[in-house]
Amino acid sequence: MSVFVVDGGKRLSGEVKVQGSKNSTLPILAATLLCGGESVLFNCPRLSDVEASLDILRYIGCKAKREDGTVIVDTGSLSRSEIPSQLMHRMRSSIIFLGAMVARFDRVRMTFPGGCELGPRPIDLHLSALRQMGVDINEEHGVLDCSIDDCLHGADISLPIPSVGATENIMIAAATARGTTTVSNAAREPEIVDLADFLNACGARISGAGGSTVVIEGTSDLHPASHSIIPDRIVAATLMSAAAVTGSDVRFTGVVPSHLESVLPVFRDSGCYIDISGDGLRLSAPYRLTAPKLIRTMPYPGFPTDAQAPIMSMAAVADGMTVFVENMFLSRYSHVSELCRLGANIRVEGKVAVVDGVRRLLSAEVTAHDLRGAAALVVAALCADGESRIRGIEYLERGYEDMELVLSSLGADIKKI
Ligand code: UD1
Repeated sequence: MSVFVVDGGKRLSGEVKVQGSKNSTLPILAATLLCGGESVLFNCPRLSDVEASLDILRYIGCKAKREDGTVIVDTGSLSRSEIPSQLMHRMRSSIIFLGAMVARFDRVRMTFPGGCELGPRPIDLHLSALRQMGVDINEEHGVLDCSIDDCLHGADISLPIPSVGATENIMIAAATARGTTTVSNAAREPEIVDLADFLNACGARISGAGGSTVVIEGTSDLHPASHSIIPDRIVAATLMSAAAVTGSDVRFTGVVPSHLESVLPVFRDSGCYIDISGDGLRLSAPYRLTAPKLIRTMPYPGFPTDAQAPIMSMAAVADGMTVFVENMFLSRYSHVSELCRLGANIRVEGKVAVVDGVRRLLSAEVTAHDLRGAAALVVAALCADGESRIRGIEYLERGYEDMELVLSSLGADIKKI
């Protein structure tokens, strides 16, 4: 198991390019199944979750290879219509293959995705939507046995929660279904728009992505396409937090500032100067941050739950008190006890965390329990006095490409051992 060793307190400087989005790459890789040929995806981050998706594609008979940041997937001939549990359990988002698999095969078997460190993460909305589209789904002993009664057909689907994964599964399944599908209360995240852009490049007819109503007119004529994955807005927010806690001046390229609209005000309220130009932004942090008052996680365009943990590390060393309200997932405060080991002053009650900023964090040995919590610990360790050790780096590697190299290139003292 790898460990990060971080000697905190170093200022960061220079320029860094933000990696491609994990949460775009995963559904787009699943969507390549609809195309029956060789699709080329640029700006694909090298992450364990992406590798897990590629292994699923290979298992069912696709050819998949990587050349640096480019992934080439050939879904021309497929040999299997089931995904075994060891592959489903490697990545929580493996459920995104359900819509694509039912669209490509008449019959599909897969296990439920792995358990989750963010509290219960049900898939009822995915299953109910696909049932409305004509998929017969039997759930027994943790296995989803799916078949199509007559044909996969369009439906009017109203989501009670704007679930990102359910919206994506519906869009993928509906792209080649018979008739038109309308998703009301759809998730509006930039990754939904990226998926629609990829599918439309393949010949799909999807409109309204990025708004609350997405309309998908099914067509049987999808073809492979080339597509460049959007930059990862959560990685951008994490690296910006790293610059902020170390009082640094860093330029980030390859970001889409409009994707960060709910996040940038938090940095500005904390006293950071942000200059947006071209495809990048520059962040200059003050000597001491000011605590942002209230951060409530919400579906996009609200403040992203995935940025809550790294931003909490900023609040931990800011002057004043910040109240966090985590509205998206239960159990998304597993980083709090570890931040407290580093000297943070944080109290949690239910979905509320109250952070009373301290002047300095101290080095400690800490353990990550989930992806974004791991990122929060790295950010905190960068500004802690002395040498910290972070375990649980395998969580970080699900979503951050070579984070130690990226931070080292900016002047941080961080190594993986
Ligand atoms: C996606 C992101 C994840 C992010 C989350 C919320 C990917 C690969 N992951 O996860 O990084 O934190 O959006 O922005 O894109 N829910 C149900 N039933 C369902 C589905 C969801 O009750 O069938 C609930 C969840 O428990 C959660 C809420 O809906 O409380 C939002 O979940 P959802 O938007 O589906 O998140 P994911 O797609 O899993």
